[in-house]
Amino acid sequence: MCGIIAYIGDKQATPILVEGLRRLEYRGYDSAGIAVYEDGNIQTIKVAGKIKELARTVDKTTISGSVGIAHTRWATHGAPTEKNAHPHLDTDETIAVVHNGIIENFYTLRDRLKAEGFVFRSDSDTEVLSHLIRHYYSGNLEDAVQKALLEVEGTYGIAVISSLDPGKIVGARNGSPLVVGVGKGENFIASDVTALLEHTRQMIYLDDRELVVISRDKVHVKNLENVAIDRQPEEVLWDAAAAEKDGYAHYMQKEIFEQTRTIRDSFSGRVIEESGMAHLGGLNIPMEYLQDLNRIIITACGTSWHAALVGEYMIEEFARIPVEVEYASEFRYRNPVIQSNDLVVVISQSGETADTLAAMRRAQKAGARAIGICNVVGSTIAREADGGIYTHAGPEIGVASTKAFTSQLTVLTILSLLLGRLRRMSRDEGRRVIQALKRIPEQVQTILDQADMIREIALRYHKHNNALYLGRGYNFPVALEGALKLKEISYIHAEGYPAAEMKHGPIALIDRNMPVIFIALRDSAYDKVINNIQQVDSRKGRIIALATEGDEVIKQWAEHVIYLPATIEPLTPILSSIPLQMLAYYIAVERGCDVDQPRNLAKSVTVE
Ligand code: AGP
Repeated sequence: MCGIIAYIGDKQATPILVEGLRRLEYRGYDSAGIAVYEDGNIQTIKVAGKIKELARTVDKTTISGSVGIAHTRWATHGAPTEKNAHPHLDTDETIAVVHNGIIENFYTLRDRLKAEGFVFRSDSDTEVLSHLIRHYYSGNLEDAVQKALLEVEGTYGIAVISSLDPGKIVGARNGSPLVVGVGKGENFIASDVTALLEHTRQMIYLDDRELVVISRDKVHVKNLENVAIDRQPEEVLWDAAAAEKDGYAHYMQKEIFEQTRTIRDSFSGRVIEESGMAHLGGLNIPMEYLQDLNRIIITACGTSWHAALVGEYMIEEFARIPVEVEYASEFRYRNPVIQSNDLVVVISQSGETADTLAAMRRAQKAGARAIGICNVVGSTIAREADGGIYTHAGPEIGVASTKAFTSQLTVLTILSLLLGRLRRMSRDEGRRVIQALKRIPEQVQTILDQADMIREIALRYHKHNNALYLGRGYNFPVALEGALKLKEISYIHAEGYPAAEMKHGPIALIDRNMPVIFIALRDSAYDKVINNIQQVDSRKGRIIALATEGDEVIKQWAEHVIYLPATIEPLTPILSSIPLQMLAYYIAVERGCDVDQPRNLAKSVTVE
């Protein structure tokens, strides 16, 4: 959702800003703009549309200067037009602001500033910031920004430049992520590290209500109460190449095909086969606390919520601890019972999802300990959780989550194993889980090797407008995830259901035009799923089945069968989710959809 990059140094800012925005495209946006300072003036260029549009417009101008800010906007207040795109300037065009987040008291502030004579040119809430900062300006930009922010209610990550105080950029955050990239003779601000990796790996993460002033060779952090903060840079180990397409047509395709490695990275060094034990260094929760846990609450959104459902089944099976899974958006606003011997597990690829972050804070406030399962290193959830487990999937750029999901499942397996071993699982049971986990990467490869066949299936079904995904037990959440993948990138209406629920309603939809994707592996639910398959077959539904290698029987009902290698039941979701990602991907490509940046979606949902 909205992306920011800012640069100050001795190079031309524009190419750095445009390239930075390109790297932030995956966050989702509908308009873009830059502002660059030179010789007493701020020049801006804005477009409604994509970065390539912005780059084309920039090429036609003579915009130059070595201090600048840039933004991709995902519309909240006001349509996605050029007028509403950032940066927003004050009436005299001396202050330029880019902003992620929402200014909640913007109507009040706008009316007051209008009465003072400030001229508003857009419908965006951000514009009040430019005028408010100008209102407070009296010789020093950071003081004006600070005073303005003390009046603001809402969330923000901002970068500000001014022709009145030109040798610096001021950034600040409250609820929207902001990171400072520390270079040599140049410094940067961005909404996430992927925009900066080609320039520096030294990052300073801002916390809420903190403000940073960067110049060419200095970075100064303080809080809104004016207290200086000594924050040292942290090195980011992801390299820039990891965030590139590597010859694949789309990031999503690359990320699907990376999963042999990313799953291995998620468990490497965390399981000890000899003792059948798991080791999670960052958990930071005393073992006695884990042994005496009363209950676990897992909270998340979207795909991460689907991973949470698999986690529920696994923790209950391995450790016999009751688990509840909650949508973060519901959890944060209802009045949940949270006790001090509950553990709250928060799952988020980005570590920035507004609802998930708020749910975690709520649980912590109620006295529970929270651990974060995050992919983005240094993200807000990762930093604010009491302990954490990084998924180590590397940067996920495609808006549709793929490799982060299978890494979340991998990490949940290790957590379940740890809890199980602490409470009731034998060493041999633990070893069996670890041995199965270690086989997963090569088994994933056998699925990826079926890409051509899965693409063939996609070619047959890409024109359908509906699809039903059915699974049971551990593969019920996979049915939900398969449907989500298809709808978000191909815009085909798809629903996931527990297979047995079909007869309570969705069966009415079945006819010869309805593709039904069954996850029908040889597990404890197999016979029941076969019954459900027969019910669909007798109503002429078009069956695509995911089946266990060697299952020839299923061919009598399924038009297409995608075979998966056998593994232990709790690990089947890691395998079964992958062909569904591939199917969604190939269907979306066939339909000509923008796979990496589907319409209306954002990678990191930092607003409610
Ligand atoms: C995944 O494909 C989705 N785009 C979306 O549901 C996502 O999983 C959700 O917004 C949660 O994001 P998070 O994991 O970064 O918190």
